[in-house]
Amino acid sequence: MKIVGLELGERSYPILIQNNLLTKITIHLKGHAPTEQAVIISDQSVSQLYGETVSSALKNAGIQTDLFIVPDGEDSKSWKTMGNLLTRCIQTGLKRDGLIIALGGGVIGDLAGFVAATYLRGVNFVQVPTSLLAQVDSSVGGKVGINHPMGKNLIGNFYQPKLVLIDPMTLTTLDKREMWAGMGEVVKYGLIWDEAFFKQVEDSLHTLIHLKDMEAVADMLAFCCRAKADVVEKDEKEGGLRRILNFGHTVGHALEAATDYHYFKHGEAVVHGMHWAAWVSRQEQFISESEFNQIESLLKQFAIPVLPDNLVAENLISRIKIDKKQTGKGLHVVLLEAIGKTKILKVEDMTPWVKAWLIYMQKK
Ligand SMILES: NC(=O)c1ccc[n+]([C@@H]2O[C@H](COP(=O)([O-])OP(=O)(O)OC[C@H]3O[C@@H](n4cnc5c(N)ncnc54)[C@H](O)[C@@H]3O)[C@@H](O)[C@H]2O)c1
Ligand SMILES: [Zn+2]
Repeated sequence: MKIVGLELGERSYPILIQNNLLTKITIHLKGHAPTEQAVIISDQSVSQLYGETVSSALKNAGIQTDLFIVPDGEDSKSWKTMGNLLTRCIQTGLKRDGLIIALGGGVIGDLAGFVAATYLRGVNFVQVPTSLLAQVDSSVGGKVGINHPMGKNLIGNFYQPKLVLIDPMTLTTLDKREMWAGMGEVVKYGLIWDEAFFKQVEDSLHTLIHLKDMEAVADMLAFCCRAKADVVEKDEKEGGLRRILNFGHTVGHALEAATDYHYFKHGEAVVHGMHWAAWVSRQEQFISESEFNQIESLLKQFAIPVLPDNLVAENLISRIKIDKKQTGKGLHVVLLEAIGKTKILKVEDMTPWVKAWLIYMQKK
C-alpha cells in the first residue's frame, strides 16, 4: 500500500493507494472516520460497477448504509441534485456522526463533498475516486461545490475529507477517452513540479494508459497526490502557490466554454491549454526550443480531439476576459521557466498570444 499524507493540522488526512482497496474500505474507516451510519453517493455507471462492493463491505461491518445514485455527468453538479441529496439525508436520518462517502469521478467528489460540507453544518466525508482525473486531482485538496447556470464551480467551499481511498483497479473499467483526459492532468504535475516525473511519463505513456503495469500506475498516482498535497499544504485556499495547479487551465477553460462544454472533456482542453502555455513560454524565451519540442511531442501523442475548425480567437479571448473579471485585477498566467518549474506572470491582455498560437496551430 502507498500512503501519501496531507498535513493540515487537525484537518490532516491520508491518501491510501492499493489495488482492490474497495473491498477493504471498513478497515481504513475505523482509524480515520469511524461511524455506524454511512451514505454512499455515486452516479449511475460507477454505482453499477462498484456500488454493491462498497455497500456490502460496509453492511458486513455492521454499518447502516444507504446508496444514493445520481445521473452521470456534469449536470448533476446542480442545486436541484444537491437539494434532492440533502432531502434524502434528512429522510434517512443521517446523524451528525454519520459519514458521507463519495464513490465516483470528480463530479461525485465535488457534489458529495459539498453535501457533506453543508448537511447539519458538516459531517465527515471520505473520497473514493474512481476516474483518473479524480484520483490524481479532484479528490485531494478539499475543493467541493456545484455549478450555476451562469458558470462552472461558482458555488462551493473548501472542505477536506477525512480519508481518500484510491483503488487503481477501478481504472480498468474507465473509458479510454477518460483515461487520456486524466493523463493530461498527470503530465501537468511533471511540467509544473518535477522534470524527472515528466520524463517517466514520457517514457511509459502508453504502458500507463493501457494499464500494463499496475505498479507503475500506482507510483504515478502516488506521485501526483504527493505533488498536489505539497501544494495544498502550503496554500490551502489558493492565495498564491496553489495557482500553479491552474497551469494550462486559462486557455483550457476558455476552450471548454467556447465549445459549450460538449466538444472537449476538461482534461482534453487542458492538454491544448498546456500546449498554449508552453508555446507562449517558448515565444517569451523562458524555455528553450528543445524543451518546447519535447513538451509538444509528448502532448501530440494524446488521443484527443483537435481544435475545432470554427474556433475564433475573439471568442476564446472573450471567455478568458470573463475569467479575468472574476479575479478583479489582471489575470495571472502560469507559464514555464523550465520543464518542472513555473513562472507566473500578471497580464492585462492575452490577445496577441492567443491569436499567434491559433495561427501556429492552423499551420500545423
Ligand atoms: N475539486 C477539485 O479540485 C477539482 C479538480 C478538477 C476537476 N474537478 C471537477 O471534476 C469533474 C470532472 O471529473 P471527472 O473527469 O472524473 O468526470 P466524471 O465524474 O463525470 O466521470 C467521468 C465519467 O466516467 C465515469 N466513471 C468514473 N469512474 C469510472 C470507472 N472506474 N469505471 C467506469 N466509468 C467510470 C463516470 O460515471 C462518468 O460518466 C468536473 O466537474 C470538475 O469541475 C474538481
Ligand atoms: Zn483541471
